Amino acid sequence: MRETFAIIIVAALIGLFLLLLVGAFIRSRQAAAVFREAAAGKVPRPEPEPPREAKRPTPISRRDFFRRSLLASVGLFTAEFGAASIAFVWPNLRGGFGAVIDLNLPPDAIKQQIDSDNQPFYFGAGRFYLVPYEGEQASTIYEGLVGDGLMALYQKCVHLGCRVPFCVQSQWFECPCHGSKYNRAGEYRDGPAPRGMDRFRVVVENGLVSVDTGTRIDGPPRGTDTIQQQPEGPFCVTIGGE
Ligand code: FES
Repeated sequence: MRETFAIIIVAALIGLFLLLLVGAFIRSRQAAAVFREAAAGKVPRPEPEPPREAKRPTPISRRDFFRRSLLASVGLFTAEFGAASIAFVWPNLRGGFGAVIDLNLPPDAIKQQIDSDNQPFYFGAGRFYLVPYEGEQASTIYEGLVGDGLMALYQKCVHLGCRVPFCVQSQWFECPCHGSKYNRAGEYRDGPAPRGMDRFRVVVENGLVSVDTGTRIDGPPRGTDTIQQQPEGPFCVTIGGE
């Protein structure tokens, strides 16, 4: 969607530029034709004007001053707004969030780190967690998402968008904003969130892990529980009287 919007904006700017270029070209051709005719004597050359006295700069009225200032401000604002809009919608093609992110790590190295830290592998620049997933439904509801036993969860809470940290005590994801809770596979367990955490596709190519953050896949609906994981300790977030 953002890519399409960016392409439309760029196409419009290129079209505008071409229009201005063609207009300038036509005007220069017309001026050259008039000059050639004048040189050939078809058009009487205008009498040279008698030299005038050097003009004194006319004082600018207050109204003109304000009008020009206003126009300059509007032009500047439009240019800045346009540049900022293009920067915002332009697809990220450099391996940051919104692109395919190559972690350049084999799956086993990531799983070892998860085991030794006792928490998911977090990649802040990509805004995702990698969790181990061996659930039975990897080939059904998570089809195409799991790569070599790893699944990528978007860090953003599906309730109102807060970043959801992982609670090492409970081994669940717990949102500090309004208390939504998700199990280790990002499946909804509690709170106001409408579904499980959204996720990205994990790809393993040539033995290395990549995550496609360009396409966000909606989390599974409430009631999905493919790993039957109970909280493994006290919760970190106690909003809602837990
Ligand atoms: S934003 Fe996470 S529970 Fe509201």
